[in-house]
Amino acid sequence: MPPNPSIMPLALYCVWRVCRAVDLPVIGIGGISSLEDALEFFIAGACAVQVGTWNFINPRITLDIIEGLEKYVREHHIENLSEIRGSLCCTGNKASKQ
Ligand SMILES: Cc1cc2nc3c(=O)[nH]c(=O)nc-3n(C[C@H](O)[C@H](O)[C@H](O)COP(=O)(O)O)c2cc1C
Repeated sequence: MPPNPSIMPLALYCVWRVCRAVDLPVIGIGGISSLEDALEFFIAGACAVQVGTWNFINPRITLDIIEGLEKYVREHHIENLSEIRGSLCCTGNKASKQ
């Protein structure tokens, strides 16, 4: 049975909050199971991602994400991940810097 998918939105939110609050490299982790999940963490501000539990379901997951990421940046003409890192833009919310 796959791990509980509810962890990822919470982890993603925490990473987004931390990235806004500190000027330090942040590693995203928590429920990552696909390239799309990893991209969401980068867009939220993470400079790297870590995959834990999903390795038990798909031992190739890390390679799949790395290969998918290479394909994604090639297709979107992205030269450096910093071009998408922290690009999440929230308008009209009440989230504070802290
Ligand atoms: C088998 C296993 C061993 C882990 N060992 C450690 C550990 O030694 N230290 C640690 O900080 N986190 C450990 N974790 C937690 C993971 O680093 C991570 O925080 C957590 O699994 C959430 O990511 P995931 O949803 O991708 O699994 C472990 C997780 C698993 C599944």
